[in-house]
Amino acid sequence: MFNWKEDIIYQIYPRSFNDSDGDGVGDLMGIIQKLDYLSALGVNILWLSPIFRSPNADNGYDISDYRAIQPEFGSMDDFDELLMGVRMRGMRLILDLVVNHSSDEHPWFQQARRSKDNPYRDFYIWRPPKDGREPNNWLSFFSGPAWTLDEGTGEYYLHLFTQKQPDLNWENPKLRQEVYRMMRFWLEKGVDGFRMDVIPFLSKDPDFPDYPEGRYGDLTLYANGPRIHEFLQEMHREVISQYPWCITIGEGFGVSAEQANLYVGRNRQELNMIYHFDHAVPREEINFAEPQPEFTLTELKAVFDNWDAAIGNEGWQNIYFGNHDNPRVVSRFGDAERYHRESATMLATVLLSLRGTPTIYQGDEIGMTNCRFNSIEAFDDVQVRNAYTTLVESGRYPAEQFLTAANRIARDHARTPMQWSYEPNAGFTTGNPWLMVNPNHSRINVASQQVDRQSVLNYYKDLIRWRGNKPTITYGSYRDLLPDDPVVYAFERKYALQTLLVIANFSRKDTELAIPDLANGIVEFANYDVSDKVNHTRLRPFEARIYSFKNESIAT
Ligand code: GLC
Repeated sequence: MFNWKEDIIYQIYPRSFNDSDGDGVGDLMGIIQKLDYLSALGVNILWLSPIFRSPNADNGYDISDYRAIQPEFGSMDDFDELLMGVRMRGMRLILDLVVNHSSDEHPWFQQARRSKDNPYRDFYIWRPPKDGREPNNWLSFFSGPAWTLDEGTGEYYLHLFTQKQPDLNWENPKLRQEVYRMMRFWLEKGVDGFRMDVIPFLSKDPDFPDYPEGRYGDLTLYANGPRIHEFLQEMHREVISQYPWCITIGEGFGVSAEQANLYVGRNRQELNMIYHFDHAVPREEINFAEPQPEFTLTELKAVFDNWDAAIGNEGWQNIYFGNHDNPRVVSRFGDAERYHRESATMLATVLLSLRGTPTIYQGDEIGMTNCRFNSIEAFDDVQVRNAYTTLVESGRYPAEQFLTAANRIARDHARTPMQWSYEPNAGFTTGNPWLMVNPNHSRINVASQQVDRQSVLNYYKDLIRWRGNKPTITYGSYRDLLPDDPVVYAFERKYALQTLLVIANFSRKDTELAIPDLANGIVEFANYDVSDKVNHTRLRPFEARIYSFKNESIAT
């Protein structure tokens, strides 16, 4: 029943995964062709970013028909075949549930904007102008106000994301029932659950107050509205509890560690797991002009320590380093040039041994890196483009400064096509790829890593196999042994009679380890050759090792 705690999730961004028909866009057939690859990797839950019909204002996170497949991605027959293929390989499939908002091209919104008394009007959030302006001063995630005036009816509608993503009105029970019906439709088809997009936003303060003093533009204020837990418990009662295998993962934007167990606490009847944003790249518009410095290792460790402590044995988290909303992890915390293999494998070691269900983002298993975008036109993401309009075209910031920042934080880094081979377009498509292919595919690609025993890909495979369903990795307690060490992450996982110790050097330098007694342990796994006599207290650049100990934990 609870084996999702023992699973490993792999996130597929379908647009960029594999194109089977040469139109430059990844598709479901393309995924089917790679199921053996995924099964050999050892992951067992596949999460697909949205595959539903969408005008693509936000690459599928703006859905115009929740029950139809995006034509570029294929047909419902293709989907059924995909699901069957996943099943045959003993894996499970979860879909993205995007129900904070729909597309403005969804028939509900088309109806809703016709007149104030249309039966679908209340499916969305409308407010009359206030002093001839927006009803409050909220900003959208993708630049500009969160309200747009509908000329026809003279009222504003709320959209926390683009104008083409009107927010659904969860206060309306009819809307909620429609969403539940749609969820049942997919569960009846046989899908295994949902990753729930910006789920803490479903409930909003019905008074829509302006940002409080000192918190202007704070997007986390949209989260954890007054009825959020009531809605999630209703969803659980009406849908999820009827499908006991259903896996649920909440995208926990705006949820603090202290609030997390309200969503995932074992008796809450809400979600199985949640993932947070405390180590994500900040997404506010201003960061495209003035990006925040990257997390130091001590900050990063504090985030993991804090979350593990807050969730404890009561709830469960989903652990990730990369996803379609963040730049590539090797470019953030590793060294994509000089220590590509070492740093990518070190990060894999940490990702796969923290407490929580890990998600591997497509391409991270070969250490895909950020890409160099030479001009604003090279980017696709609506977030970058809108920020460019407000920050640069308005004359507030120079274009050069924007380009440098976007090259560090843009979501497009994670969306460049999967690098299958050194062939043109990385073997992703025979056509024109919808987004540039990273030129480093000649060096970093699946085909060459498959035949290289020392590759990042083979390290992932071996580590996943070794990990198996070891109870210590899944259920063991977690303790950070060196929270203040600026370059080494060392944590203990302890369960019954076994203790595992994970040590990881996050720096380019050799470093002395402040933990004695390692020689008593067995090196179970390492990203450097440890066959010769190993110097236990010295770590090479980005070196990672997992030790096991019997009976007692390690003293520091
Ligand atoms: C989530 C998605 C992101 C999308 C946004 C709006 O944060 O992960 O990609 O843009 O929601 O749906």
